[in-house]
Amino acid sequence: MAKFPGIFIVDPDPDTRYKIAQMVPETGFTVSGQAGLGTEAVASVTKAVPEIILCAMKEPVSRVVQTIESISYALPDTPIIVYSDTTDLDIIRKAMLAGARNFLSSPIRLDELKRSLSATLEAEERRHVRSADNSILAAEGAIITVFGAKGGIGKTTIASNLAVAFVRQAGQSCVLVDADDSFGDAAANLAVTPERTLIDALRAPDDDDDDGDLMSCLAYHESGLAIVSAPTDPLEWRDVGPEQVEKMLHRLARHFDVVLVDTSGTLGDVSQAALAAASLVLWITTPDYASVRDSLQALQATQRLGLYDDRFRFVLNIASMETNVDPAVIEEAIGARLFWTIPHDRLLRKSGQLGQAIVEASPKSPASRCFTELARVLSGLPPEPRANGLIGRLFAGRNGKAQHRETAEVLETAEEAMS
Ligand SMILES: Nc1ncnc2c1ncn2[C@@H]1O[C@H](COP(=O)(O)OP(=O)(O)OP(=O)(O)O)[C@@H](O)[C@H]1O
Ligand SMILES: [Mg+2]
Repeated sequence: MAKFPGIFIVDPDPDTRYKIAQMVPETGFTVSGQAGLGTEAVASVTKAVPEIILCAMKEPVSRVVQTIESISYALPDTPIIVYSDTTDLDIIRKAMLAGARNFLSSPIRLDELKRSLSATLEAEERRHVRSADNSILAAEGAIITVFGAKGGIGKTTIASNLAVAFVRQAGQSCVLVDADDSFGDAAANLAVTPERTLIDALRAPDDDDDDGDLMSCLAYHESGLAIVSAPTDPLEWRDVGPEQVEKMLHRLARHFDVVLVDTSGTLGDVSQAALAAASLVLWITTPDYASVRDSLQALQATQRLGLYDDRFRFVLNIASMETNVDPAVIEEAIGARLFWTIPHDRLLRKSGQLGQAIVEASPKSPASRCFTELARVLSGLPPEPRANGLIGRLFAGRNGKAQHRETAEVLETAEEAMS
């Protein structure tokens, strides 16, 4: 690899290309070429073999989509980041389906560009290592199931924010699956209005390699995150079999680095299917006695069902400031160590109500930092350097310290789970 990784800019507008080319050296990358759309782009990109391609998503959209498809075909291992001023989710969806890995809002900000390029490159390197390590395992992405034995403990908040962090901060392709068979609201939490739902996805025939029918059931968030949303009518779940859900999750894992599954607070058939399919389970509990007690009972049930094993990671979510069971007591009760602690952050409630991901709306808030770090660690990327001062203090306390101390251990176990 070149000393400074090369970025190739594809944009029909030479002025914008020039502006971005001026910014790239400030990000620690170098410009390896630039071109307009179509054959001009494909020919020059193939010659330049850059580390990352930045491509404008603008009219004529069909021509851009064709260009992305041709580039992805010619250089399948080179990630494409699309930038656009559009908020039209259908256009973003088209770019992602054509092969884009990531999305940036334009006009592009220097800090956003820098972060996106670094995260994309790191994720790409990680992907190479994974496929060199074990090509069979690498063929399937990780299925991460977010479960907790109670309602209102932050499962959807964690699943949706972590999903956006996987895309934005860890450069992973990710699909969020709402498998909450009571009243799933993951899409609404990100202000995405889906045209099709999980019920359509389950019906998609499994008869071609690119799973075109299944992929057409996905909705897209403006970050590029794909979403399989829950049906609006909960009665539609009545005909859903757990084995169908499990199969769909594995099919999705063939196309995404991460399949993140939100569940209901009960251990019904659908949750069991999501737990059975998982390569990693993030088991959420809050620090109040009812939550810990329910967690314990549900854990014992998963043991009886033969589902409980070393895929389980326990996450303490400080959803409210009112009750606070000592984390040591929780660890003793569940008989396992806490893997991660999510701090209380009042902005989480606000951003959820506004349909915003906190990692985008308030990237410096304590919860954002926490989701970013969790997404990076689970992706096998080094944690971002932690700022001293306020964030450090907010993370302080027994669990916060444990989180720091155990980073190496966490990385090891997460890597095993993700490989
Ligand atoms: N760490 C936190 N800090 C502050 N508020 C939080 C935190 N975690 C969750 N919340 C808030 O708690 C509420 C419940 O969260 P959420 O809907 O994610 O729970 P849930 O477990 O998915 O519930 P359900 O099982 O009913 O779907 C939301 O208003 C959310 O913003
Ligand atoms: Mg929920």
